[in-house]
Amino acid sequence: MYTHEDLNALRNQSLKLQGWIRQQTFSPEMEKTLRRFSSWEVSELIFRVNQSTFRGKLAADPSLPGGEVEPEGRQRWFSLEEVNELRRRLKVNRKSLMPPRPEGKRAIRAAVANFKGGAGKSTVALHLAHAAALDGYRVLVVDFDPQATLSHSMGLTDVAEDYTVWGIMARDLIRETERMNNRPAAAESGTALPRRELPPAITDMGLGDLRISDFIRRTSWSTIDAIPSCANAAFVEFASAQYRHLNPEWSFFAAVSRYLDQIPDDAYDLILFDCPPAIGYQSMNAVFAADMLYIPSGPGYWEYDSTTSFIGQLAEALEDLAYGFDKTLPTGKIGLPKTFCELRFLLTRYEPGNALHLAMFDAFQKVFGDHVAQYPVEMTRAVEQSGRFLSSVYEMDYREMTRETWRRARSTFDNVYEEFRGVMLSAWDKLEDDA
Ligand SMILES: Nc1ncnc2c1ncn2[C@@H]1O[C@H](COP(=O)(O)OP(=O)(O)OP(=O)(O)O)[C@@H](O)[C@H]1O
Ligand SMILES: [Mg+2]
Repeated sequence: MYTHEDLNALRNQSLKLQGWIRQQTFSPEMEKTLRRFSSWEVSELIFRVNQSTFRGKLAADPSLPGGEVEPEGRQRWFSLEEVNELRRRLKVNRKSLMPPRPEGKRAIRAAVANFKGGAGKSTVALHLAHAAALDGYRVLVVDFDPQATLSHSMGLTDVAEDYTVWGIMARDLIRETERMNNRPAAAESGTALPRRELPPAITDMGLGDLRISDFIRRTSWSTIDAIPSCANAAFVEFASAQYRHLNPEWSFFAAVSRYLDQIPDDAYDLILFDCPPAIGYQSMNAVFAADMLYIPSGPGYWEYDSTTSFIGQLAEALEDLAYGFDKTLPTGKIGLPKTFCELRFLLTRYEPGNALHLAMFDAFQKVFGDHVAQYPVEMTRAVEQSGRFLSSVYEMDYREMTRETWRRARSTFDNVYEEFRGVMLSAWDKLEDDA
């Protein structure tokens, strides 16, 4: 017979191994660091300019950052900060290298979601975040999943639940309840509005006083910040049910959206959500706050089935919000019924030579039409390895594997990102100025 004590002992054994893997993966101080990028990568893969044009520009202006020269090679290696400085200062054919951003609008928010486990959500979210940062965008990632895959991939392993989406929701409950209790009684009807009391167990946690910036952590990428998650945040699903009961008027699904509304419009360009493989309070917050949905799906029949049931459940949940809630309740900048500017299905772990995968891609396109991303994420060995070492292909040094494996992996994610960027720009266009 086994009890919780046995489970705990097994967990402790596992934690030891985890610590060892982290030690092998991150730098000696257990902190994740970002490598430098070679002049070949910076010119041809990041800026998309000819390598000799790039070298010429550097030679012509000695005040530009010159990177570090490798001991026995001709390549220069640039840090992300140097790449960004070059992007700001260089012009090629009189054109700026800065990525497009509609003026005066807030950051665009994209959720990578599917209630199917293992669909490739975290892998896609990690690669999109890195590709967008290399493209010059400032990114905030929000990890809605207590499995915390994305947080760990970004080197954020020491996280308390107060500083996760759970904390954001509890803080929102406290503030919204206070606001409701302080509003003037409905003068016209003469009825007093009910006062909602929260127990000290909630109000005494100090979450009500946390500032917006308290939830945001820096990462090893200087232009990517993160709101991480952790295993303890799983309790939110239990707690949130109780919270709703304490204040039934609280629009729980809009907590994160309201929080994001308070971040200055210009602080980030892209806010990316990695979602848990389940419907719940956290995933509903992610979906509600998102301007666009990216739905990764594996290329098999079962995955097609699960993806179909995902959109069914999501539709039902959003319909419940649209009709079950008083539309005059404030939900922040996003209103009810919830609308998305763009939706895409994205096939993952796709093998172009596999007849079943080809047939499934075809079926997806027949059923979902233009909502299917043209470029699937291909199955690559580099990513299988990267899962183990918690890194994206962009973080991996191409000298550590065959150049062909790295290029193939990189080019599949480049294509997926390129298409994502088009969808993102179209969603940004559709976003109302004051949304
Ligand atoms: N393109 C790919 N090529 C090879 N392996 C992949 C690829 N995409 C994902 N994987 C692997 O599939 C597994 C699941 O991927 P991932 O963790 O991204 O899925 P997920 O949808 O986030 O899972 P969960 O539902 O548990 O959050 C991982 O081991 C990952 O390394
Ligand atoms: Mg995941």
